Amino acid sequence: MSGNIEKKIEELREVIREHDYKYYVLTDPVISDEDYDRLMKELEKLEEEHPEFITPDSPTQRVGKDLTKDFNQITHKVPMLSLANTYNEEELLDFDRKVKSGLPEGEKVEYVVEPKIDGASVSLNYVNGYLKTAATRGDGTVGEEITVNVRTIKSVPLKLKKPKSIKYQLNDFEARGEIFMKVKDFLQLNKEREDKGEKLFANPRNSSAGTLKIQDPKIVAKRPLNVFLYMLVSTEEEFNTQLENLEILKALNFNVNPEHKLCKNIDEAMEACRELEKKRDLLEYEIDGAVIKVNSMRQQKILGSIAKSPRWAVAFKFKAKQAFTTINQITWQVGRTGAVTPVAELDPVFLSGSTISRATLHNYDEIKRKDIRAGDRVVIEKGGDVIPKVVAVILEERKPGARPAIPPANCPVCDTPLYKPEDEVAYYCDNAVCPAQIKGRLEHFASRGAMDIEGLGEALIDLFVEKDLLHTYTDIYDLKDKYNELTAIDRLGAKSVKNLLKAIEESKKQPFEKVLFALGIRYVGAGAARKLAGHFLSIDVLMNASDDDILKVHEIGPSISGSVREFFSNEKNINIILKLKEHGLNFTAEKKAAVNSFFTDKTFVLTGSLSNFSREEAGEKIIALGGKVTSSVSKKTDYVLAGESAGSKLDKANALGVTILSEEEFLNHLNEK
Ligand code: IVH
Repeated sequence: MSGNIEKKIEELREVIREHDYKYYVLTDPVISDEDYDRLMKELEKLEEEHPEFITPDSPTQRVGKDLTKDFNQITHKVPMLSLANTYNEEELLDFDRKVKSGLPEGEKVEYVVEPKIDGASVSLNYVNGYLKTAATRGDGTVGEEITVNVRTIKSVPLKLKKPKSIKYQLNDFEARGEIFMKVKDFLQLNKEREDKGEKLFANPRNSSAGTLKIQDPKIVAKRPLNVFLYMLVSTEEEFNTQLENLEILKALNFNVNPEHKLCKNIDEAMEACRELEKKRDLLEYEIDGAVIKVNSMRQQKILGSIAKSPRWAVAFKFKAKQAFTTINQITWQVGRTGAVTPVAELDPVFLSGSTISRATLHNYDEIKRKDIRAGDRVVIEKGGDVIPKVVAVILEERKPGARPAIPPANCPVCDTPLYKPEDEVAYYCDNAVCPAQIKGRLEHFASRGAMDIEGLGEALIDLFVEKDLLHTYTDIYDLKDKYNELTAIDRLGAKSVKNLLKAIEESKKQPFEKVLFALGIRYVGAGAARKLAGHFLSIDVLMNASDDDILKVHEIGPSISGSVREFFSNEKNINIILKLKEHGLNFTAEKKAAVNSFFTDKTFVLTGSLSNFSREEAGEKIIALGGKVTSSVSKKTDYVLAGESAGSKLDKANALGVTILSEEEFLNHLNEK
């Protein structure tokens, strides 16, 4: 009896999986939504009555209940490479020449051209037919585990059915591809967010990448994520061609982009790229280029990779999308450092996924150089970054009487006279208590990469500053004593205040490097903060460090050291730090535990090009594991890590009898750490 039920449950799952495939992958459903819901309800009921038969691959188990606290790290078995870019046909021909020169003379090369999906890359690991993990690309070697979120994507099979036609074992493989949102789904999502007064996503890519990092899979499940798979990798088996790779993925019911094309030579590949660019606006999803891949895996293997990119594939980037509009007005915006930047207020225009009504004009020099004036008809562009910019003025359409813009004499927010340092292009408001600066600093402090206080965004900060609740960073941590005042604000319910206060308390756990970044010291970005925190290990030591001490830190230059010293010479800043210390923020870091590894106390010299990292990255890894990196080979050198085309350093190492490490050996040592 129970055997029958179990069988029935599994049969029902199979039927639902098939409908999911037809609906989400083929976008060709064969039953109505009502009928589908009925099947799901039936399965849910049976599983409720027989919880002993619930398995993780059941369609009812896509959405987990638990929140993700921290995303685990996953080391990719095969590194996830990225692509070198080309921007014109000449560069593509150059790519073809290099491919041919890397192969035995006279070999013909076929290419597969695919759309370059503008989303977030993902690697799905299937073991014995079940989805085991899903990971982001990360730095290409180590990514974040986002399995619970990826499981919610209906076009991702949780269980595979391998058709007989596939002659490979596929016991353990990764399917790699891109997670994306269709433009119409993205617009709908943004509309819903607008209605709820939430912050809008800039484009479908950010919206997908942001969604994958959400800690609650229930929210992720409501977002319209989708996936295209374009690569099959396995350390156990070898495949023949990229085209075959795509066909296997398709036969396994993965969503494979239909726009790929096999091309006999580079001319055909170039034509395919042009065709794709023409088609670009007709597609339901955004693509930012085409990818050209050598079809034969044998040839791919011969070609190998250099630094982080394969020699057998290249991206052909399309031109940034442009639109025409009119500048209604040029306004001046005050940032957290007091820099006053011009902004073009535009006639709203729709461009790649969003409506644009403002564009940065960078600085006054830029306005003069491009001769941008209020009232001008302009071309705007959204490049790789999300902030749109004005590329050109259509001078023929300039209205008579349009006057050149000039910077204001006084701060547009607090009216303090502006000044311009001689060696800079920006104008500054030097009133540290200018409300615009206060808001900007607080926004930076609370932002994701800094103290990461969820819910404390631009809108709430504006409100709190206007209501005199916030002036400095420390006020954020005093908000907990103002519960009544906060709940009395119209827009804030008890629940949101509680959540906010919880997020504020939570932020105290942020590590020293994030706190240091949050302080908003000029020129100290996230990277510099990490380096300074890792070197000095405490704010007290950093505070007392001399210029020379600071300059000793790898890659820290005089503008950073000068700015750090200036920051700590200001008593107000010291007082803020003292108060933040009292609130329990982290102002010290632990020296990375001196794990005894292969690398500990060994001196390395790096030479030649590595395929999985740049030399700098490999060096950082060695240092992080307790080793030293020097630039020249001597008797004191313990190991020379030699990549491809290593030259004189390798010769010297051989002459001195220094042990040579191949990249593969190096990777093995990294993995055993
Ligand atoms: S192939 C070694 N194919 O573009 C092969 N990538 O820098 C590397 N992408 O990180 C990737 N569409 O996230 C490949 N059809 C496609 C792609 C694609 C989008 C992304 C991918 C990768 C980035 C290239």
